[in-house]
Amino acid sequence: MSRPLKRALAAVGGAEPLSELPISLAEPAIGGNEWAYVKDCLDSGWVSSVGSFVDRFEADFATYLGTGHAVATVNGTAALHVALLAAGVAPGDEVLMPSFTFIAPANAVRYAGAWPVFVDADPSTWQMDVGRAVEFLETHCRWSDGELLNPKSGRRIAAILPVHVLGHPVDLGPLLAVAAKFDLPVIEDAAESLGATYRDQYVGRFGRLACFSFNGNKVMTTGGGGMVVTGDPALAARVRYLTTTAKDDADEGIHGQVGFNYRLTNIQAAMGCAQLEQLEGFLAAKRRIAAGYAAALDGVPGLSLMPEEPWAKSAFWLYSIRLDPAVAACDSRELRRRLRESGIDTRSFWQPLHLSPAHTGAEVLGGAVAEWLHREILSLPCSTGLSEAAQQRVIGAVRGSLEP
Ligand SMILES: Cc1ncc(COP(=O)(O)O)c(C=O)c1O
Repeated sequence: MSRPLKRALAAVGGAEPLSELPISLAEPAIGGNEWAYVKDCLDSGWVSSVGSFVDRFEADFATYLGTGHAVATVNGTAALHVALLAAGVAPGDEVLMPSFTFIAPANAVRYAGAWPVFVDADPSTWQMDVGRAVEFLETHCRWSDGELLNPKSGRRIAAILPVHVLGHPVDLGPLLAVAAKFDLPVIEDAAESLGATYRDQYVGRFGRLACFSFNGNKVMTTGGGGMVVTGDPALAARVRYLTTTAKDDADEGIHGQVGFNYRLTNIQAAMGCAQLEQLEGFLAAKRRIAAGYAAALDGVPGLSLMPEEPWAKSAFWLYSIRLDPAVAACDSRELRRRLRESGIDTRSFWQPLHLSPAHTGAEVLGGAVAEWLHREILSLPCSTGLSEAAQQRVIGAVRGSLEP
C-alpha cells in the first residue's frame, strides 16, 4: 500500500482530516510488478550484482531508448564517473558543463581528476547556455596538435557534459555541431529527464554516452541506481569492465587495472524492470500535473511557468515555477515557508556550482542567470500519484499567497 493511501485511510478513520494531510514533493509509485519481481530474487537467491533481472533491465532500457547498449550501475553518479573515464577524460583535463545543476556531474568530473568549466544558464530554457558554450570553444579555446586547449588554464578540453535539468532537454543541436568540429565527446546527463524528447528523439540518444539515475525521487526508481547508455559496443564493453572491478580473467581473479564495484544488484534491477513497465503512465501523469499547474497559475503576478520549448517535450520531472521578487507578492523562500505551514512540501534549487565551496577554483563563463534561477525557482509537489484534490490544494495555497 502506498504511503499516501495509508495516510488517506488513516484520515478516513478519523485521525486526520484529508484537507490537512501533508503533500510531499515527489514520492515513488510502487504499484506494478515490483513485489513479484523482488520476491522472485529473494526466492531464487539471486540478490546480488548478477542475475536475470540485471540483464533484462539493461536490455529493456536499451530497447526503450533505442540506444543499442545499456549498462546498469549502482547510482547515477557512478554512471557519470565511468562514462567520463570511458570517453577518455583524464586527470588535468577540463569538461564543459552547466553551473545550474545538481552537484553530482561536477563531482564525477572531479573523481576523474578533471576540472569542470561551468557555463551559465539560458534565461528562457533554464538549461545550459549553449550559445555561450559554443562561443567559448570556438573563440576562446585554441586548437593545437589535435587538441583543444583552454588558454587561460592551459588544460585540454576533453568533453562536453550537458545536463538536462528538471526534465527539460538542453538545446543539443549547436553543442553536437561544435563537438563534432573539435572531435569532443558529448556525455549527456539525463538523470532528471528520462522520457523527455529533443526534436522528437529521446534524450540519451544524442551523446557518445548518456547517463540516467533511478534515485527515489526520479521519474522511475530502483531505490538507488543508474544506467549508462551508448550506441558504441566498444564503449559499452569498457563501461562494463570498469564497473565490474576491471576483471581480465574472472576464473583466475586477474584485474587489469583499478576498477570499480559499481554494478546494480538484481533486486534493484527487478524493481527497475517493474518500473519501466509503468514508465509511460508515469510520464503521462507528469504531463497532466504540469498542464494542471500551467492552466491554474498562468497570469499570477510575478509568477513564470516552467518553460517547454517548441523543439522539446519535457518529462516535467519536477514542476517548477519562477517568482520575480520585484513583482510577486512574496519571494520564493517566503512562498516555500508559507506552503510548508500548510503541509505542502516544495523545493528550492541548487546553489550555482561556480559558487560551491566543493568546486572552488573551477572557471565559470558568466553565472548571473544561474544565480537568479537559484533564488527564484521553486518546485511544487508533482508525485505521479498526486490526486486532483491535492493539486487543487497546492494551487489554492500558491494563489492565496501571491494574489491580493
Ligand atoms: C542531474 C543529475 N545528475 C546526476 C545525479 C546523480 O544520480 P544519483 O543520485 O543516482 O547518484 C542526479 C540526482 O540524483 C541528478 O539530478
